[in-house]
Amino acid sequence: MTEPNEPNLISIQDLKVYYRSGGGLFSAAKTVKAVDGVSLEIRKGETLGLVGESGCGKSTLGRAILRLTEPTAGKVIYNGRDLASLSGSEMREQRKHLQMIFQDPYASLNPRMTVANIIGEPLRTFGIANGSTDERVAELMETVGLNPRFARRYPHEFSGGQRQRVGIARALSVEPEFIVADEPISALDVSIQAQIMNLMQRLQAEKGLTYLFISHDLRAVRHLSDRVAVMYLGKIVEVADGKVIYDAPLMPYTQALVSAVPVPDPAIEATRERIVLAGDVPSPIDPPSGCHFHTRCQFAIPECSRVEPKLVEIKPRHFAACIRINAENPDIKANAAAGLGAVGI
Ligand SMILES: Nc1ncnc2c1ncn2[C@@H]1O[C@H](COP(=O)(O)OP(=O)(O)O)[C@@H](O)[C@H]1O
Ligand SMILES: [Mg+2]
Repeated sequence: MTEPNEPNLISIQDLKVYYRSGGGLFSAAKTVKAVDGVSLEIRKGETLGLVGESGCGKSTLGRAILRLTEPTAGKVIYNGRDLASLSGSEMREQRKHLQMIFQDPYASLNPRMTVANIIGEPLRTFGIANGSTDERVAELMETVGLNPRFARRYPHEFSGGQRQRVGIARALSVEPEFIVADEPISALDVSIQAQIMNLMQRLQAEKGLTYLFISHDLRAVRHLSDRVAVMYLGKIVEVADGKVIYDAPLMPYTQALVSAVPVPDPAIEATRERIVLAGDVPSPIDPPSGCHFHTRCQFAIPECSRVEPKLVEIKPRHFAACIRINAENPDIKANAAAGLGAVGI
């Protein structure tokens, strides 16, 4: 866990990733605004959780930070340099410091390579190891809780949880400073999820790692994250400390996400107010005007379809993007009951 005023490790500034989609003989290509003007600070040593429904742009944002997907516009400042404007070879050099863990460890591991080769490959690629990597691979396997005796085995000989450990060992091999973990536990059995989360926490404490932890599972995010950013249709709509996002969210979208998480205690569960999110996430090809969420928001007023809300600090360290709330009137439900219209503009 980090102190509130840790310095930034990465500063994302107005980042955009637009994809060209479709387009053929009789139709024009459309623009998918997967990430549309994201600004975020990631502090040294913290875990920043990134949540939102499927299709909101979380993976694209994670990949764009590492330049695994090319940003369309904006900056990613790391160590005083803009990653988005580095040349290919300069970016390759930075990859040692910036690694990724993927959702499906099976799909992301080459099935024809032994685990030793998978974990050792980045060491050779970056010229970190000369000659044999056996010793270092054994050490990495031990670090992530794998028996080094299995180094000559292939990915299919491991369970899902073990494969994710292989993926983590591979990412750790180059001693990175920052790791984007994109849904690293979503494909795993519930019993295994906790083990991988504990491993990630232990590694963070031991190595001072900084994580961007992407997940649609709010419980996992809360467990692991110091701060949480909530994403909706390419934009960050709320940022706050993990506990605050979960216990006192300001945005109707976040409130709906939180209310969808089941509470283990049936007595509490019975008294809880559930906010149902109507429909799916609209297409990022032609997102709703104004606040993208207005089509699904029970508190939407006509202004919401006209005015694009800015992410502003409503309470200390708590940012939200909604024209119906501000620092004096942070409670949207109370504002709506009192007939307050657009107060944030
Ligand atoms: N390579 C691509 N080409 C075109 N559209 C894409 C591509 N990758 C993702 N998208 C679209 O961008 C949007 C965001 O996707 P993604 O970043 O995967 O969201 P998430 O990780 O939150 O589920 C989706 O509408 C998705 O269909
Ligand atoms: Mg994704």
